[in-house]
Amino acid sequence: MNPRNYWKSRLPTVEKALDRLISAQAKPHQIHQSMRYSLLAGGKRLRPILCLAAAQAVGGKESHALPAACAVECIHTYSLIHDDLPCMDDDNFRRGRPTNHRVFGEAVAVLAGDALLTEAFASVARTPPNRRYATTALIKELAHASGSLGLIAGQVLDLDSEKKRIPLKKLVEIHRAKTGALITTSLRLGAMSAGARPNQLRSLTQFGQALGLAFQVIDDILDITSTKEKLGKSIGKDQSSGKATYPRLLGLAGAKKEADRLTNTARSALRPLGSAAAPLLAIADTLLCRDH
Ligand code: IPE
Ligand code: IPE
Ligand code: MG
Ligand code: MG
Ligand code: MG
Repeated sequence: MNPRNYWKSRLPTVEKALDRLISAQAKPHQIHQSMRYSLLAGGKRLRPILCLAAAQAVGGKESHALPAACAVECIHTYSLIHDDLPCMDDDNFRRGRPTNHRVFGEAVAVLAGDALLTEAFASVARTPPNRRYATTALIKELAHASGSLGLIAGQVLDLDSEKKRIPLKKLVEIHRAKTGALITTSLRLGAMSAGARPNQLRSLTQFGQALGLAFQVIDDILDITSTKEKLGKSIGKDQSSGKATYPRLLGLAGAKKEADRLTNTARSALRPLGSAAAPLLAIADTLLCRDH
């Protein structure tokens, strides 16, 4: 298969697995509808695809990586529901539709986020153990990346930096935590589910750290340069809420240059994995040129 088609080719598998994860029949009806409303709203599925691609890059089985792939998408979707709440970024539009709290109300949106977060751990716990990694190692990995030293740390620092002039070093710290941590862990979980060797895990971790940061730099750029229709979310919000972003600190051209540099760093990290990493390389290239 052409590595450029990898992402698209795995989407039906991911969509089907997510659809199965949260039953439309489960009761109470409202909370499960709310969870499904955001989870099945057609995001890019970057994190689960990275998880599957990392497993494949080290010779693993897709079926063993799928529970972790669903888990990272659940965490991501919960973080978006909460990120959009009035007490956080206060956004009305997400994944091409009104935000969760706009449709279900704030209380149910908070609970839908909580429930997706919880479901993520039930899902990753279904990963079969292998000779290198016990299932509990994957559970700990996910907890660390999404917890108060990872994604949550990033979200807190992001809110705390609104309308402040912060140094680039601090911004790198924020972006690494709020976005980089889960992206890196998506790759690591895929590799761990496949029993990756330590040096393989190291290469994928380095790839994820550079790619994750590049991804948030590009997210900052797109908030200025893209459209609501293309992104499926509101634009211009970073400026109006005084967010600390790469374009604000480096200018648009400087931010773009930094995204290029980080993507190159990510590409280099994959070298030891050889041709098995071709789909991951293609994903990195696609992300650099993305318009949504
Ligand atoms: C948006 O993530 C939030 C960030 C962490 C930058 P994505 O751009 O991956 O959003 P979806 O999943 O495609 O909706
Ligand atoms: C979101 O960052 C990061 C998380 C949800 C953890 P942003 O606030 O920049 O994401 P968007 O731009 O609203 O998608
Ligand atoms: Mg935010
Ligand atoms: Mg936001
Ligand atoms: Mg953003």
